Amino acid sequence: MGQKPYPYPILVVDDEPAILEVMTVNLERRGYTVKTAQTGREALAMAEETRHAAIILDYSLPDMNGFQLLAELKKKDSETIIIMITAYGTIGMAVEAMKAGAYNYLSKPINYDEMGALVDRAVEHHRLLTELWQTRSELQDNYELDNIVGQSRKMQKVYEKVKTVAESDATVLIRGETGTGKELIARAIHRHSARRNRNFVGVNCAAIPETLLEAELFGYEKGAFTGAVAQKMGKFERANGGTIYLDEIGEISLSVQAKLLRVLQEGELDRMGGQETITVDTRTIATTNRDLEKAIQENQFRSDLFYRLNVIPIYLPSLRERKEDIPLLVNHFIRRFNRKNGKEIKNISPSVMAALMHYEWPGNVRELENIIERSVVLSAKDRLDEIELPHTRNNGHLTIGGLETSFHDSKKKVIESFETHYLSNVMKKHKGNISAAAKEAGLDYKNFHNKLKKYKIKRRTFEE
Ligand SMILES: Nc1ncnc2c1ncn2[C@@H]1O[C@H](COP(=O)(O)OP(=O)(O)OP(=O)(O)O)[C@@H](O)[C@H]1O
Ligand SMILES: [Mg+2]
Repeated sequence: MGQKPYPYPILVVDDEPAILEVMTVNLERRGYTVKTAQTGREALAMAEETRHAAIILDYSLPDMNGFQLLAELKKKDSETIIIMITAYGTIGMAVEAMKAGAYNYLSKPINYDEMGALVDRAVEHHRLLTELWQTRSELQDNYELDNIVGQSRKMQKVYEKVKTVAESDATVLIRGETGTGKELIARAIHRHSARRNRNFVGVNCAAIPETLLEAELFGYEKGAFTGAVAQKMGKFERANGGTIYLDEIGEISLSVQAKLLRVLQEGELDRMGGQETITVDTRTIATTNRDLEKAIQENQFRSDLFYRLNVIPIYLPSLRERKEDIPLLVNHFIRRFNRKNGKEIKNISPSVMAALMHYEWPGNVRELENIIERSVVLSAKDRLDEIELPHTRNNGHLTIGGLETSFHDSKKKVIESFETHYLSNVMKKHKGNISAAAKEAGLDYKNFHNKLKKYKIKRRTFEE
């Protein structure tokens, strides 16, 4: 027992139960917590849910080879520490593994002392990385929480809430349009909670057919229904001690709602076809972008469940409501996609930034992220001076003037959107020269200037 307990487990991936057994015994003797997986898919699912100090994986697995798994794991988290077990006498394979980003390798037959020493070093490395990451995030605490970017008042309030609610076990209901970062926030709450070393288990309630959702959430016994050939643990049980993330809760049927209410109230559930009641201790975080209050009125959602879920509501503002965060997000994504694509884009032209600021972002941060990624990939220069935005602002149909709004509101929106677009373009063409731009527009200087003021279009942004 040479080692102090380390909070993150070691994951060993091998299809041979006997090898898993020996490795586990050896590593546990050194004081580590060990988890095991027998297939690549299983390992990926585990890596998704928990951080591991290191992952030891065999080059041959039933469903994929070690290199594929290595690549997948690195794609999810480039800082994952991976030790690859290579076949006897295949030094080429070891070299390949290192090139593909493995931390180190062990060759067969495994020398367990060597393995122990290597794991000690890997864990030390992991500890340093984690510390570094913590200091970094403490420094940026005011603007960033984990990887969540935004300095607007509205986001500051969200961060404060995340930190306070993380301490408790209260159920959280996160609401917000698509792409506003609901899942990001849910994961942050889990990471800042005392449950951080246990599983974070996600279920997308809208993606699973109603008939399967119950089985997925609560599990089943062998023979519970046709096709239930073996016992299966449900997501609630897998999240025991940790957090369950119920995405798009507004989509679940009334019968599943009743069962959900019981778990939330009593911490109890029955597997389908099961005889005994199972007790679980999970923290629930749910999301919705559906109007649940309306669903309640229409008798599609139970009000008692709603109150249970809505103990702590968190509302994520749309990107339109916090445009001041756009420049920060843009820089964040440029840096990220530079790294990912080996690019070195250093800045962005003022006119592109202006266009980003004026766009309405129906897909919120996800849409911004995708657009920046595409531009970074396509850009041949070290400055972004072109960007392609969907033409939702100037063609007036679909997004603007939908049937929910009155004729006058719709018309006003179309005009406003036309004017912003037109003014930005003509200002861009004349590099911020107001007289020239006004002349081209056929408006007198004063009128033109007033319009610029109305839409907060700044001359400075167009000067080159
Ligand atoms: N504040 C933010 N800072 C950095 N990245 C963000 C932020 N908000 C969202 N993102 C990124 O935008 C994408 C969408 O976020 P996420 O999946 O959390 O949204 P969501 O609200 O769950 O969307 P949906 O309702 O469509 O499921 C992710 O790639 C996420 O990393
Ligand atoms: Mg989501």
